[in-house]
Amino acid sequence: MTILAMDQGTTSSRALVFSDDLRVQARAQHEFPQHFPQSGWVEHDPDDIWTSSAGTARAAIEKAGAPRIDAIGITNQRETVVIWDRKTGEPLHRAIVWQDRRTADVCNRLREEGAEDQVTETTGLLLDPYFSATKIAWLLDHVDGARDRARAGDLAFGTVDSFLIWKLTGGQSHVTDATNASRTLLYDIRRGEWSDDMCRLFDIPPALLPEVRDSADDFGTTRPDLFGRAIPILGVAGDQQAATVGQACFQPGMMKSTYGTGCFALLNTGDQAVRSQNRLLTTIAYRLDGTTTYALEGSIFIAGAVVQWLRDGLRLIREASETQSLSGQADDSQQVIMVPAFTGLGAPHWAPHARGAVFGLTRSTGPAEFARAALESVGFQTRDLLEAMRADWPQAGDAVLRVDGGMTASEPAMQFLADILGAPVDRPANTETTAQGAAWLAGYRAGLCPPPDDYARAWQLDRRFEPLMPEAERDRRYSAWQRAVQAVLSV
Ligand code: G3P
Repeated sequence: MTILAMDQGTTSSRALVFSDDLRVQARAQHEFPQHFPQSGWVEHDPDDIWTSSAGTARAAIEKAGAPRIDAIGITNQRETVVIWDRKTGEPLHRAIVWQDRRTADVCNRLREEGAEDQVTETTGLLLDPYFSATKIAWLLDHVDGARDRARAGDLAFGTVDSFLIWKLTGGQSHVTDATNASRTLLYDIRRGEWSDDMCRLFDIPPALLPEVRDSADDFGTTRPDLFGRAIPILGVAGDQQAATVGQACFQPGMMKSTYGTGCFALLNTGDQAVRSQNRLLTTIAYRLDGTTTYALEGSIFIAGAVVQWLRDGLRLIREASETQSLSGQADDSQQVIMVPAFTGLGAPHWAPHARGAVFGLTRSTGPAEFARAALESVGFQTRDLLEAMRADWPQAGDAVLRVDGGMTASEPAMQFLADILGAPVDRPANTETTAQGAAWLAGYRAGLCPPPDDYARAWQLDRRFEPLMPEAERDRRYSAWQRAVQAVLSV
């Protein structure tokens, strides 16, 4: 029995073939072009999304020895908007990517008009261009005739999962799952349905929207010509939610943090949709067998990207992996603090215009101190998220953090994370948590994979990082970081 996980990310599409005990048999990956038509705008060509996804799926199946695939799970970059013609399948425009800021003014205007409270109460989100709704409205307003076609029911909107399912099923299914729906600003996360009020507020014709299913559900069957036979699509979740599932964070109080370009931390709050008082997001972690599990989410925009900046911007290193040894040579008597607000600050500050800064420079500050400050900035930012989570939901106080993503390979970064959080950090043996989450959702629906509790028991630890830093030092260093952030916010 074999499961294919398709992981459509922001910079690349990946596909992994799993055995039914969720061991990776083969993987393939393909980067695709990013388009930046104006400052702050980010677009993807939907054809690139589709061809790279289908291509890597075929490549992974071939590498695995062309086994019979029993089920497909899909996980994806969230919030990104695609609109296409229902008859021809032709995309209306390039996809507008989650990072795109073109609708910042619309969000500001709605906030000034006092709409944010109702938006947060209904959707769990904030008025920020990060989410889908204002991007959908932008497309309807800027592509000739689009609004009329949308009202007439001729167009379909989807996040990337929905678009891929449409393509995979040859236009038979226009569906999404609850986690992806919960990122659009149009979904009532408590009632579990599209919100008429939000559709009115953002001026989105409901006829555009896909049907919302559980995360482990029947999403349709692939065109037989794509992979040699018709395969059922049985699992779908946004990538951060799939990682939450992959990390087996099924119990309230469990938390995962994924360190890619940015960092997304999700704390399982069970059946409670906790309303944040600290500008975190309330979102759907997963919906299984009709039951919704919620999460508090904090997003940091720059995590691994700070290492890319050391490499490509400052040219201090040639390979990302050099950061670890370089930071090990840093002079302990120097306390250099880097606030990497290159694209503003995300949660809990949401300051899109903030820009980065480095504090504490002396004449002997060099590449090693920069490298260490870069790694430490990721720990400090995670602490900011954890503080906000603790303030919103006291049970978060005992959370053990499960980490994944490229940066978790760095032992000093993970040790500093545990030190500055004052809490254990668990790194799993399996590093493919996002794809594994998608594969498990599909396998669970197919009856191939065990239920959540058994899956959680099989989750394996690679290493636990215990906090070693004395409390007084932790407090002193975190206070210094907080002052540095305040300085950045006040410029
Ligand atoms: O919310 C955006 C997130 O889903 C993007 O994840 O891994 O594609 O950068 P990634």
